[in-house]
Amino acid sequence: MEWVYISDLHKYTGQKVEIRGWLYNIRSKGKIAFLQLRDGTGRVQGVAVKGECNDDAFLKIDGLKMEASISVTGDVRKDSRAPSGVELTINDITVIQNPEEDYPISKKEHGIDFLLEHRHLWLRSSRTEALLKIRNQAVISLRNFFHEKGFILIDTPILTGSIGESSSTLFSVKYFDMGNAYLAQTGQLYLEAACMAFGRVFNLGPTFRAEKSKTRRHLTEFWMLEAEVSFLENEGSMDLQEEMICSLVDSILSKNEAELKVLGRNTGPLKKITAGFPRIEYSEAVKMLDKLGKPVKWGNDLGGDEETILTEQFEKPIFVTNYPKHAKAFYMKENPENPETVLCADLLAPEGYGEIIGGSQREDRYDELISRIREEQLPESAYRWYLDLRKFGSVPHSGFGLGLERTITWITGNKHVREAIPFPRTISRLYP
Ligand code: 4AD
Ligand code: MG
Repeated sequence: MEWVYISDLHKYTGQKVEIRGWLYNIRSKGKIAFLQLRDGTGRVQGVAVKGECNDDAFLKIDGLKMEASISVTGDVRKDSRAPSGVELTINDITVIQNPEEDYPISKKEHGIDFLLEHRHLWLRSSRTEALLKIRNQAVISLRNFFHEKGFILIDTPILTGSIGESSSTLFSVKYFDMGNAYLAQTGQLYLEAACMAFGRVFNLGPTFRAEKSKTRRHLTEFWMLEAEVSFLENEGSMDLQEEMICSLVDSILSKNEAELKVLGRNTGPLKKITAGFPRIEYSEAVKMLDKLGKPVKWGNDLGGDEETILTEQFEKPIFVTNYPKHAKAFYMKENPENPETVLCADLLAPEGYGEIIGGSQREDRYDELISRIREEQLPESAYRWYLDLRKFGSVPHSGFGLGLERTITWITGNKHVREAIPFPRTISRLYP
């Protein structure tokens, strides 16, 4: 008997097959039982009828618990009402392991803390499956986007000696007799070195921030897609980001229709994500926020609430550019037209989601960079290698980092970033 995956069952109509998986629900009414089965590739209903199914197997059905692991053999029948398009008429059942206890996650509503505490089991639910399959597709799509353009993948280190973003959110670990190492907040500084070697580079990896904030947008461990391009200015970087986001949304819309449906995502707003994202200067955004009744003091970074209000005004993602220098990281290039600001852009997602990308042109002049490092009181000696890049063939260059979980959360229309990563790490969670 051929063992097939549920996602392939439609190719086997009229044939006998074996499927191996888990029982996620069961309904039995005397002479007939409906077994809901899943195997990671899909979900299908198996129907066992007394007299048609092997007698021993039929007797076992009533004793099966939710999430029992089983192997089932049966005939594949076309069923236009079923989401998978097929149903299985069960001939025989082999029980691999039948739980002794009731499965902790039942059909009733559970609180988020309970679900997070059982994340190792919650992964099996249809919503989580849909979300994480979209994440899988997003990673494939992003990698393809850069490979097709000829970018080179450069894996940047996780254990670092220089502070990438800000000293206030560092995780440090004891590093032999060399003092402390920091978990990377970004791969950017290393990508800058690599773009002087390879021209156009990208990475996708885990990044860490000891964020004390308990918001729906913050994780302490999250994944970032970063790109860095030599001879590219801030405007060109925004063009690239726009193209990347449009191609990402397209690919999710075309490849994950079923998953978006499970999540109940209204795809209308996603279909409006086409090129031509508005670009608004920070100072203009401050004026808009003033009018919208959410005043911000010029000089401060925009917070989550401000971003939400701002993005609710647009159907497309918007770039907010040229923030005040002191609201942003030390490496951003001074704006020659207004030295109080830097050449940067945050991309804010629509429907109130807010920042999903942070990017900028980099300060490529040695003297200006070192004075920014001093101003921010960063340990100069840790940046000797980074400053070398401004000594040996410095060129204008720009790059950006896209937060994977925030992007998935927006695309799936979910509320909180913690469900967009298999095992979320937050200020209060290290288990499971
Ligand atoms: O804006 P950020 O801090 O930019 C950088 O780290 C740059 N060095 C990137 C670069 O230019 N190469 O972070 C980039 C993105 C944010 O826009 C956000 O989407 C995400 O990373 N992010 C977080 N996601 C989840 N939890 C957190 N605590 C996050 N902090 C940033
Ligand atoms: Mg940012």
